[in-house]
Amino acid sequence: MAKILLVDDEYTMVQMVTEVLRAEGHEVFPFTNYNGVAEALTSRRPDLVITDLYLDKTKPHGLEIVQKARALTPPPVVIMITGFGTVESAVEAMRLGCYDYLEKPFKLDELKLCIQRALNHTQVLAENQQLRKELRRGYQFHRIIGASQPMQAVFHLVERVADTDATVLILGESGTGKELIARAVHYNSRRGQGPFIPVNCSALPENLLESELFGHRKGAFTGAVNDKNGLFHEADGGTLFLDEIGTMPAQLQSRLLRVLQEKEVRRVGDNTSVTVNVRIVAATNENLESLVKSGKFREDLYYRLNVIPVTLPSLRQRPEDISMLISHFLRERTHSRSGKPFQVTCRAMAAMEAHSWPGNVRELENAIERASLLADLPLLRVRDLPPVVQAHATADDGNEEQQISASVVPSGPRPSEALSASATPTTPGARPASPMPPTLLSLKKYGHDQELAYIQHVLASTGQDKEAAAQILEISLATLYRKLSDTGD
Ligand SMILES: Nc1ncnc2c1ncn2[C@@H]1O[C@H](COP(=O)(O)OP(=O)(O)OP(=O)(O)O)[C@@H](O)[C@H]1O
Ligand SMILES: [Mg+2]
Repeated sequence: MAKILLVDDEYTMVQMVTEVLRAEGHEVFPFTNYNGVAEALTSRRPDLVITDLYLDKTKPHGLEIVQKARALTPPPVVIMITGFGTVESAVEAMRLGCYDYLEKPFKLDELKLCIQRALNHTQVLAENQQLRKELRRGYQFHRIIGASQPMQAVFHLVERVADTDATVLILGESGTGKELIARAVHYNSRRGQGPFIPVNCSALPENLLESELFGHRKGAFTGAVNDKNGLFHEADGGTLFLDEIGTMPAQLQSRLLRVLQEKEVRRVGDNTSVTVNVRIVAATNENLESLVKSGKFREDLYYRLNVIPVTLPSLRQRPEDISMLISHFLRERTHSRSGKPFQVTCRAMAAMEAHSWPGNVRELENAIERASLLADLPLLRVRDLPPVVQAHATADDGNEEQQISASVVPSGPRPSEALSASATPTTPGARPASPMPPTLLSLKKYGHDQELAYIQHVLASTGQDKEAAAQILEISLATLYRKLSDTGD
């Protein structure tokens, strides 16, 4: 049972096909001219569009309908009906993304078969979507840790732009979470049901990268034994993540620019191009502006990509997130011998907070993984940390094991439990007192800052779920929003 939009100027044909399809249990929206079709595409969200190419003798409205349909997210499958002798337009229709075409006059059985094939195709797509939905859960914001102000600003920006189709450029040092954010942009957008295709621009030599991205025709070069679609085609209806874009060779930069401008892709060795509906998210840890200045990166491409820049802070710019990241990385691990969840000593925590983490979150994640494998006890101590981190530790007074950091929440709690566990430390005095602000503030401003820090802590514990946070805080959602935007001045 599918939603089918049918457009043809032959009234009797529309009537007959509508009856047949309705008898098969489909929901049919019949049209005999172009009026109202565009509106119905967006309001009815059909699964399948069957359209005649010429709705009057003058203009191939059908092509417009294909274009409008294919631009929807997710796009319906389209079958084009063409009059006798209009093969060129049929080719054009296929180029625009029609699934199939049928030449008039056709038998009802032919149409039925064609519809069956198209609907099977949508079903396969739907099954893929279901699988993707499961994947998507992993990339919602609760998996991205960051209560600090710069990370909150990033989440806020990503939330606002995810649902647009704007190109996003993610900047940040290595290991700051660029790919994680790219996936969050995709899975939190309308395209989230569509494919997310990552491609590392530095991993392949130029000619291979070109045919990977754009596809090729059989015989286009030695080794091209078959026609092959590129990653742009594969990402149709979804997002193409161009990682390490700064390393893209000059010739490919020009081709990419053309695709971005024309929304059409031409395979290597092909002389026709195909329309694609792809959102671009790019990332780099290089300074693109200076690459532009030195002539290594095309300025026009830079402006095309840099529509929405998202800059990820380095970990040393947000040390207040370190303990929460550690909790996050420890959550799924238990001590191999005892099976117990890990805790962290205050001394180890202080050393980790003092380290500058040039490899950012990835370095921290690796350090925690290493420590959890090395530790003799379900307790991470300074001796379990990498030597560069140990170098920041205070002198060992022999009491390290007695002082457990309260900011690491034992594994697997629900957000609300996490909160109470960290708010009531089991070892008296173990929780470090909040640091005093460097400048003296009014009581009001100090109170405001403390309140905001606590709200952000709760938000981080609920995975940025504002409704859950408001509930824990026992305030309304509106009050939460107001408090978040209030600067306290
Ligand atoms: N805010 C975060 N919360 C939780 N995990 C994070 C966060 N940021 C990064 N990570 C983890 O750190 C690792 C590195 O992240 P990611 O691969 O996204 O970084 P990157 O910026 O793409 O790095 P590179 O430039 O080296 O490719 C991943 O395992 C990722 O899951
Ligand atoms: Mg990366």
